[in-house]
Amino acid sequence: MSRAALGTWAAVLALTAGAAGGVDPHMDLSLMPGSCAACHRGHGVSRSPMLPAAQTEVCLQCHDSRVGIDRLVAAGVLSAEADPVQMGTALAGAFTHPLSSEAFSSEEPGAVVCTSCHSPHRGMPPRGGSGAATGQRNLSPRDPGRFEVELCQSCHGAAGLGTRSPLDLSRLTNPNNPSYHPVEAPAAERSPSVRPELAGREINCTDCHGNSDPAGPRGPHASQVHFILRADYETVDGTSESETAYALCYGCHARGMVLDDSPFEHHRLHVVDERAACATCHSAHGSLENRSLIRFGEEVFVGAVAPSLAAGRLAFVSSMPGSGSCYLTCHGYDHAPESYGDEVGSLPPPMR
Ligand code: HEC
Ligand code: HEC
Ligand code: HEC
Ligand code: HEC
Ligand code: HEC
Ligand code: HEC
Ligand code: HEC
Repeated sequence: MSRAALGTWAAVLALTAGAAGGVDPHMDLSLMPGSCAACHRGHGVSRSPMLPAAQTEVCLQCHDSRVGIDRLVAAGVLSAEADPVQMGTALAGAFTHPLSSEAFSSEEPGAVVCTSCHSPHRGMPPRGGSGAATGQRNLSPRDPGRFEVELCQSCHGAAGLGTRSPLDLSRLTNPNNPSYHPVEAPAAERSPSVRPELAGREINCTDCHGNSDPAGPRGPHASQVHFILRADYETVDGTSESETAYALCYGCHARGMVLDDSPFEHHRLHVVDERAACATCHSAHGSLENRSLIRFGEEVFVGAVAPSLAAGRLAFVSSMPGSGSCYLTCHGYDHAPESYGDEVGSLPPPMR
């Protein structure tokens, strides 16, 4: 692209940047005197959007570490006042969101690049201060006209299966299900243990997925916890219950209420005494068949849970909070069924 053409684009981008959401700091000459040329170089590499190197490398010139930043300040590309978030240490963390090291553009099929989730020319829409769940849906960091959940589901939903899971996540969080964590719509039932300011409200993918270091860069780039979770979440039976073992859930659901004052009166027995993990009974996203995010009966068996030997079934039968029946075997203990509360449900017809 010629210099004149870049100039025309600069005018267009300056206008769109101002109109839609935040003004991009990359377009602010007082922070980035290098302007367009900080990222673009002449025609760039063949077939790239005028970029001199693969996109991750271009972005990490300034967003990796102090060394790169200082070099660009010395070169006059970046002002000494600019303080781009340094992500190098976080991206070297244990669990990272994949990034294609070779791709130039978000348009390349299958590529995950920084601009899959960010606009290169338009700042992010405003975000809450502390990063704690606010009960409101975040806007997409890429497009202030959309919600974050739409961005994530563009790859992790029916539209694009970018995940290892056999389950499409938008199927699980679908508000037509018997239960779902409220990322698409408020929940149909109230959870007594949830923080009062979140009751009846919505949460975001990034309220659970993000950096486990609260002082590090925000966002679902990397975490020290598996599945890029923002806090610890043990998923294996035999774990001793503690504030930290299930810190992710206890960040929004009061621990004391879950253990001792829940519609499921046997939480303490299972979680503390028998050391069952939350994930043995609950899905984190939603359930196609059951109330209360109970995952028994899903097409995928988890952990030690298998169909009841005597009843030959794996099912959770419950029509209202505070009572239900479980048909399953767990660590050799047959529930055929075991029930809690008053109402003892009857077994649904077998599924094919
Ligand atoms: C922070 C780095 C950065 C800066 C600064 C930047 N761009 Fe870009 N630009 C990119 C990236 C990365 C892409 C590729 C986006 C994609 O396809 O994923 C891109 C794409 C483009 C495109 C292709 C069409 C489009 O919007 O995707 C044009 C044209 C463009 N930039 C012009 C400019 C101009 C003019 C400036 C200066 C006003 C500028 N850019 C500043 C990183 C930058
Ligand atoms: C030449 C240096 C440079 C490059 C290259 C660069 N950035 Fe930045 N970035 C900055 C600066 C400067 C800021 C603003 C920091 C500040 O407020 O002082 C920033 C801020 C950001 C923010 C926060 C925006 C907001 O509205 O709060 C995001 C997201 C971001 N950059 C993503 C990217 C992506 C994606 C790329 C590659 C396409 C990229 N950056 C390339 C310098 C750069
Ligand atoms: C899978 C989507 C995704 C990818 C890929 C991604 N980001 Fe982000 N990023 C986000 C989200 C979402 C946020 C906002 C998090 C929040 O506000 O809590 C964010 C926030 C940021 C911030 C602001 C951090 C802060 O603490 O203020 C920067 C800078 C940034 N990203 C840069 C990048 C760069 C550079 C890349 C590529 C190396 C990249 N991101 C790749 C989703 C992504
Ligand atoms: C451009 C496509 C794309 C977008 C957009 C995207 N992701 Fe991903 N994500 C992927 C791919 C590909 C993987 C790797 C899957 C694999 O390992 O098989 C992944 C992995 C993950 C993982 C880790 C899964 C694991 O097994 O550890 C999480 C968590 C995740 N993404 C969350 C998010 C969230 C939250 C958003 C929205 C802010 C998002 N993603 C947006 C493509 C995407
Ligand atoms: C970011 C906050 C947040 C986190 C973290 C969180 N939840 Fe929730 N949870 C909610 C909200 C909001 C609801 C809806 C309750 C309401 O509106 O009264 C809910 C509802 C539930 C329900 C009841 C669903 C229904 O439809 O009846 C269960 C079960 C549940 N959560 C379990 C968990 C488990 C297990 C974890 C840990 C993996 C967890 N939650 C983590 C916010 C959260
Ligand atoms: C309440 C917390 C919570 C919310 C909200 C949440 N997740 Fe998860 N996610 C988890 C937990 C916990 C796991 C670990 C595995 C498990 O227990 O299912 C996980 C696993 C994953 C995985 C990897 C496993 C798989 O099934 O492929 C991906 C990808 C993912 N989440 C993406 C998302 C996206 C996208 C959203 C928003 C639509 C989202 N998550 C919302 C807690 C959450
Ligand atoms: C043995 C299976 C089992 C385990 C393990 C389990 N739960 Fe539950 N949980 C249930 C059942 C069954 C219900 C439905 C109660 C009802 O509404 O009848 C429930 C309901 C809930 C609810 C919604 C009601 C409320 O109290 O707000 C939350 C939240 C919850 N569980 C969180 C957790 C967390 C966090 C863990 C791990 C520390 C956990 N559960 C472990 C079976 C289990």
